[in-house]
Amino acid sequence: MALTFNPITMGTGADSIDAQHKVLVDLINRLLVSMQTGRAKDEVGPILNDLAKYATSHFAHEEACMARFSCPAALANKNAHAAFLNTFTAMKADYDKNGPSPMMAIRMQRELSDWIAQHIVGVDVKLKPCIPAGTKV
Ligand SMILES: [Fe+2]
Ligand SMILES: [Fe+2]
Repeated sequence: MALTFNPITMGTGADSIDAQHKVLVDLINRLLVSMQTGRAKDEVGPILNDLAKYATSHFAHEEACMARFSCPAALANKNAHAAFLNTFTAMKADYDKNGPSPMMAIRMQRELSDWIAQHIVGVDVKLKPCIPAGTKV
């Protein structure tokens, strides 16, 4: 099922972060659609590369915001990002070696799509009460 950005449950109070989350959601949805169609071979590799780059720069921006506003979830967020990048790297290596498969599609659904949704709702939104009213982030 396609992931959707829900501003009520996923809003972080930082427009720049919300915009990046929308891009991440879009990239992951494109990835999953590519896995479900015959286009996997041409599309999945480049999308995985884009996702790796985008997730890395997004994590850095979000970690800097949490540090700036002394968010209590800063350390948990940083650790979760590092764990995600480890999982992602292992998954990408598996994909590069073995190519698309139904098992890989399930793994991407679980480890990318489900993970990002749960992470935003569970951790990233903790930034919201830390941003002073009227501050544009
Ligand atoms: Fe995060
Ligand atoms: Fe995030």
